[in-house]
Amino acid sequence: MHLIGFLLKKISIFAARIYSEKFYKHLNMNFDLTEEQLAVQAAARDFAQTELLPGVIERDEHQKFPAEQIKKLGELGFLGMMVDPKYGGSGMDTVSYVLAMEEISKVDASASVVMSVNNSLVCWGLEKYGTEEQKQKYLKPLASGEIIGAFCLSEPEAGSDATSQRTTAEDKGDHYLLNGTKNWITNGNSASVYLVIAQTNPEKKHKGINALIVERDSPGFVVGPKENKLGIRGSDTHSLMFTDVKVPKENRIGEDGFGFKFAMAVLAGGRIGIAAQALGIASGAYELALKYSKERKAFGVEISKHQAIQFKLADMATNIDAARLLCLQAASDKDNHRDYAKSGAMAKLFASKTAMDTTVEAVQVHGGYGFVKEYHVERLMRDAKITQIYEGTSEIQKIVISRELLKN
Ligand code: CAA
Repeated sequence: MHLIGFLLKKISIFAARIYSEKFYKHLNMNFDLTEEQLAVQAAARDFAQTELLPGVIERDEHQKFPAEQIKKLGELGFLGMMVDPKYGGSGMDTVSYVLAMEEISKVDASASVVMSVNNSLVCWGLEKYGTEEQKQKYLKPLASGEIIGAFCLSEPEAGSDATSQRTTAEDKGDHYLLNGTKNWITNGNSASVYLVIAQTNPEKKHKGINALIVERDSPGFVVGPKENKLGIRGSDTHSLMFTDVKVPKENRIGEDGFGFKFAMAVLAGGRIGIAAQALGIASGAYELALKYSKERKAFGVEISKHQAIQFKLADMATNIDAARLLCLQAASDKDNHRDYAKSGAMAKLFASKTAMDTTVEAVQVHGGYGFVKEYHVERLMRDAKITQIYEGTSEIQKIVISRELLKN
């Protein structure tokens, strides 16, 4: 019997639809980018090549924050990409954000982490949960890139175990009194606005935590020394100290006790941004390895003619495509108001491993040249590691994914 006839006889389309709804409904099968998305991608690629590439090695070497470049990124609308234009943003979708993050990260992951934190953790959180007054006062300058923001959750003893907040926000009626230390804060010294997570009611555990907007010049707020890091050395990572810092009540985000949920919700979206950063680091390293393999000769031919190199390129390209699909899937989930905690965690888990594996192999393809700074791949390899650590380690992503799988 012809296969189609057999199928029509045997298979209940109704049952097939139930199966498909269960396992495939969340898949967005349209991979065509819109003209606007393509234009954003091209603009980000152009910016990376013309503004970020010159000087990226020196900034890494001297741990120099890319201040001028970040200012220009803000002027072009890349720091508040998903924010409504009425609050100074570009009004774009998450897919466009992922495309831009990949292009910027191919060249300069230090710049892209600034972009990611400002877009996903700070602007998105304020637009989604802030009051109208908070949006007018803080979101507008943040989304238009006039100022940048920082997200302050991690502490010396609260990294993965984020509910164990030791920083306290004591309720004093019309204000909170903030005391404690935050660690490894991106944009630590360059931000003007800090979203600080702190414990108000320890007996309520995570339900006693609040998220507060703290201004840079608040008395009692001190920025600690800059961290000397393995990678993303151009980004500005500091510890922060708060001693009796007065934060007005109107600077609390959401209801009393909403702070932990706020942190989890913004991190779910932030993980899509970091996944795209990891994707960019991987694809940047792959493109360099591919180009080099066609130029460098060994045993009388270009090294791309050797199967040992071809197989490395094949593995890199396959993993990068898979990582890109996961990133776009998570972005599409967010844009279409589907749950994206799992798809974002999957994208981050896979893309960050791909970044690590691909950059190590890209150095290998370059041989001795890969070990020196001019060839860029050693920097990309150092930059890749952090994507398996920040905004939730790979182990935390596995917790998030498995909880989602087992929740019903
Ligand atoms: N959206 C909204 N709420 C969420 C949520 C989400 N995506 N995920 C969890 N929650 C809620 C839960 O529903 C729960 O609320 P209820 O008690 O009312 O039901 C509450 O948050 C607590 O959740 P859990 O019980 O799951 O908490 P847990 O203690 O088991 O921890 C965890 C969960 C996933 C391990 C979490 O602690 C975590 O994500 N840890 C990693 C922290 C992290 O990512 N840090 C990154 C630092 S920021 C950074 O890196 C920025 C940078 O500079 C680049």
